[in-house]
Parts: sequence; structure tokens; C-alpha cells
Amino acid sequence: MNGIRTPGVERIQDPAPIGPEDDLDRSLRPRRLEDFVGQERVKEQLAVFIEAAKARGEPLDHVLLAGPPGLGKTSLAQIVAEELGAEFVGTAGPALERKGDVASYLTALDPGSVFFVDEIHRLPRALEETFYPAMEDRRLPITVGQGAGARVVTLDLPGFTMIGATTRAGLLTTPLRDRFGVTHRLELYEPTDLARIVRRSAGILDVEIDAAGAEAIATRSRGTPRVANRLLKRTRDFAEVRGAGRIDAAVAREALDLLEVDEAGLDRLDREILSAICGKFGGGPVGLSTLAVAVGEEADTIEDVYEPYLLQQGFIMRTPRGRVATDAAFAHLGLERTGGHGPQLF
Ligand SMILES: Nc1ncnc2c1ncn2[C@@H]1O[C@H](COP(=O)(O)OP(=O)(O)OP(=O)(O)O)[C@@H](O)[C@H]1O
Ligand SMILES: [Mg+2]
Repeated sequence: MNGIRTPGVERIQDPAPIGPEDDLDRSLRPRRLEDFVGQERVKEQLAVFIEAAKARGEPLDHVLLAGPPGLGKTSLAQIVAEELGAEFVGTAGPALERKGDVASYLTALDPGSVFFVDEIHRLPRALEETFYPAMEDRRLPITVGQGAGARVVTLDLPGFTMIGATTRAGLLTTPLRDRFGVTHRLELYEPTDLARIVRRSAGILDVEIDAAGAEAIATRSRGTPRVANRLLKRTRDFAEVRGAGRIDAAVAREALDLLEVDEAGLDRLDREILSAICGKFGGGPVGLSTLAVAVGEEADTIEDVYEPYLLQQGFIMRTPRGRVATDAAFAHLGLERTGGHGPQLF
């Protein structure tokens, strides 16, 4: 009954697969700012900064993009490069191990390039300092030689824009965070924006969908474009096998039920998290690591992937003593709160 993962079963919430994305995912990725749906404030600001940087002929200031998985951080970084007409070079925090790794990336950049570091909160601490002078004044001091003959030479770097992406802005050290001129936090999407994304993707996938079908998928996509696209693809399979290939509200609802995504957009693990807090832990508070063991999932995954939506929907609250289930959670699961007390907050 615990949520032990079944190997090989794709979950709607799974992160982007590691390695090159498949053609389908690539085709769904927005290429230009105008294709990027929603996040209007972020887009507006980026458009201004990009135009100003282009007019001055200078690289754009470094940008930090924060927010839960699947909200479009990588897409936005690629879009910024595209809009700047600049080269896009991407890596990830955990892939950078030595100072030499950073040096070989940075020295090889064309002037004005976008250097994208995904999961920047997982950059080894020792390497962070390498980035400070590189980001501030395009200098890269490196040590050559060893022992008594070792000396420091400073390499001049081409002008570049670093774009960092993180699901955990809180884990970044202050000195690193401060070196980004611009920080944008991406928020979970509204159903109307998700419906636009679903219709756009349906167009690319060449699948017929009506407004009610798009809305049914959108409202169950937990505010996340990646989830919306995945649900669309699964629903399309369902429509092709069971229906006439056209997605309407009924087909969408049947497909989503089959995928165990409920009316509130919660999947099986969401419900396991809620039932653990409500049942096993009497509504909470319960610590994250205890909860993680109870549902058989990693604490980081619960915090990064599952919690944002459960918090936003008002099913759980974070308190200093742990996670607490709200009345809405009990109601959603059809459970009575035992003991008759409301959530104990402190
Ligand atoms: N605003 C948007 N408009 C249209 N499609 C979007 C938007 N944001 C994301 N998508 C779609 O969702 C997919 C996931 O987005 P992306 O990979 O950019 O997310 P991410 O924030 O980088 O996620 P992660 O934290 O897991 O790396 C994209 O391939 C794209 O198809
Ligand atoms: Mg990404």
C-alpha cells in the first residue's frame, strides 16, 4: 500500500528524462517569446532587457530562473538565446566537477553567448567561487603548474550571459545569487494558460481537441506545462484506441481516470502523501523525512515536485514542526478528522 515505485512505469510527474529529449518533446518546446504561454510579467521584463542589451550591443545581464520542475525554465533560457540571436551552450551543476570543466566551457564561448547552468543549486561549492570573477568582470584566474612552480594566470573571457535554473533558489549561496542581475520566479500556471498550451501542443501533434477537452486536461495538470503535455499525449493514445481520435471532455475524463489523475489534478502519490498525513499521522504535523519514508519516495522529490501544488491548492501547510493536512485534504479523501482538533500549527 505504500508508494514504492514500480520500476519502468512512467509517472505523470516524472522529471524530464536525462539525456537528449525525443523529437516529440523537442517539437512541443516553445522557440520564441511569443510562443511561450503565460508568465506575462517575466516575459515582458525579459523582452525589455533583451531589447536594451541588443540596442547597446552588450551581453544581457545574468539571469536566474527559479521554480518547480516543468514550468519552462530550460525553454525560457533557450528562448532568450534565440531572441538575442546568440549561441546557446548548456550544462548542469552536477556535471561541472573541476575548475577545468568551467574553464573549458567559458573560454570556448562565442562573444554574447548564453551559458545555461541547469540545477545550479547542485554546483559544487568549491566551484562557485570560480564563477564570481567570471560573472562579475569576465576574468578567470586559474592555477597552472604544480608545487613550487605553480602560478596563477588570469584568462580574459568573452562577454556572456549566464542563465542559471533552479528548483531550489533557497539552496543558492547569497554571493552566487547576488551575481545574477535578474531573478525570475516562475509560478504554477493558471488553467486558462494551460488550456492554451494544450491547444498549441495538440496543433503541433496534429490531434483534434475541443475547448472542453483542453480544459479538462488543463485543470488536471497541476499548474505544470510538462504535465499538461504528458496528459495530452496519453489522452491522445486513449482517443486513438478507444474513440474516434478526437479529444473531447468525455474522452479526456476517461483517460485521466485511467491514469489515476483525479478531479483536483492529484495523482496517486499526491493522494498517498495526503492519506499518510491524514491517516498515519493524524493530520500532522509530520516531518518531511518521516513522510518520505511513509510513502516510499525521496524527501527532495516530495519537496520539489509534489508539495508546491499541494500547498497551492490548500491541501497541506508547512509549519515549523512539519507538514499539516488541511480540512480540504480530509474532505478530498472523504475522511473525518479524528480527535476533533483543527491543525495544530505550533
Ligand atoms: N510557457 C510555456 N508555454 C508552452 N509550453 C511550455 C511552457 N513552459 C513549458 N512548456 C512545455 O513544458 C515542457 C517543460 O518545460 P521545461 O523543460 O522548459 O521546464 P523546466 O522548468 O526546465 O523543468 P525542469 O526543472 O524539470 O528542468 C517544455 O518542453 C514545453 O513543451
Ligand atoms: Mg529544465
